[in-house]
Amino acid sequence: MAVPTKLESPLRPLQWRGGTDGHLELLDQTRLPTEVVRLACRDVETLWEAIRSLRVRGAPAIGCAAAYGAVLAFQSASRGSAAEWMEAVERGCKRLAESRPTAVNLFWALDRMRRRAESLRGAAARDAGEALMAEAHAIRDEDAAMCRAIGRHGAELIGDGVGVLTHCNAGALATSEYGTALALIYAAHEQGRRFKVFADETRPLLQGARLTAWELQQAGIDVTLICDNMAAQVMREGRIQLVVVGADRIAANGDAANKIGTYGVAVIAHAHKVPMYVAAPRTTFDLSTPNGAAIPIEQRGADEISHGFGRVTGPPGVACYNPAFDVTPAELLAGIVTERGIIRPVNRETVSKMLSEKG
Ligand code: MRU
Repeated sequence: MAVPTKLESPLRPLQWRGGTDGHLELLDQTRLPTEVVRLACRDVETLWEAIRSLRVRGAPAIGCAAAYGAVLAFQSASRGSAAEWMEAVERGCKRLAESRPTAVNLFWALDRMRRRAESLRGAAARDAGEALMAEAHAIRDEDAAMCRAIGRHGAELIGDGVGVLTHCNAGALATSEYGTALALIYAAHEQGRRFKVFADETRPLLQGARLTAWELQQAGIDVTLICDNMAAQVMREGRIQLVVVGADRIAANGDAANKIGTYGVAVIAHAHKVPMYVAAPRTTFDLSTPNGAAIPIEQRGADEISHGFGRVTGPPGVACYNPAFDVTPAELLAGIVTERGIIRPVNRETVSKMLSEKG
């Protein structure tokens, strides 16, 4: 099947269509790269399913989608009393918080929407709807601005002629636009640098193959797809000088949870003396989680391993273990690229200092 031709630029995985009575439109990422299908979410349940089954995925994108989910929840009771729409928003946020456990951006965005709803107690329903929608738009716009700033700060890490390895998808598809790890790549490309990107395929759901390779190819960036188990060999061959990945949650000490396989890449990079950076906005930091051991790791179904994409990829009935994320200890990271600058070295003090700085 043909890879779809160019999409709109910038590439956006989610867009609100219409006014307060509008809906959230998602680019269904489970259908990429062979089909471009857009999904209209008009209620919380549809959005819950879309997050749960990774139609929208990537920590910042999940947060933005959930913010709009609070508006969908409001719509369901907008003709009722203030108590009724407040209750609907609360119920909707609670439901969406049950969709996936690891990406902290989800909980951050839902908390912010809840607080906004709380501040509207006593407002007319019409004004409350406008205010909630404006808050969701603000969350999306701030995310886009943070991604651009991450790109500006991190582009310097990508010199001419280097090879860059990335894992999973931390690109435009994982955010409101532009990406986090891929923001460095887009910014370096815009600055005219020439370099090569290697994308790990990222078993079991192939976000690296289906999404990262696809969006970099669309952007005209030199990308080569490799299987996850090839990263060590590719590094030994001297083809990689930098590793950059995103994160789903970063603990107060800088330990970073990201897609399963990231920790393995970190160990391999360390063995080959290749610096590894995480790129993430402040919404991905969770200072209430002291270290990586306290980050909840999503466990997903056996079918993703034994029946990958509907094919029999393991003996029926075999036991499978399928943690969706792992944690890379801070000491294996050369730095964390944020919208405020690069945290380097990575430890409790440097994380706290960067996040508490004004601006
Ligand atoms: O399970 P997914 O596809 O939601 O996992 C996504 C990742 O692990 C990304 O690398 C992470 O969210 C960073 S996104 C900018």
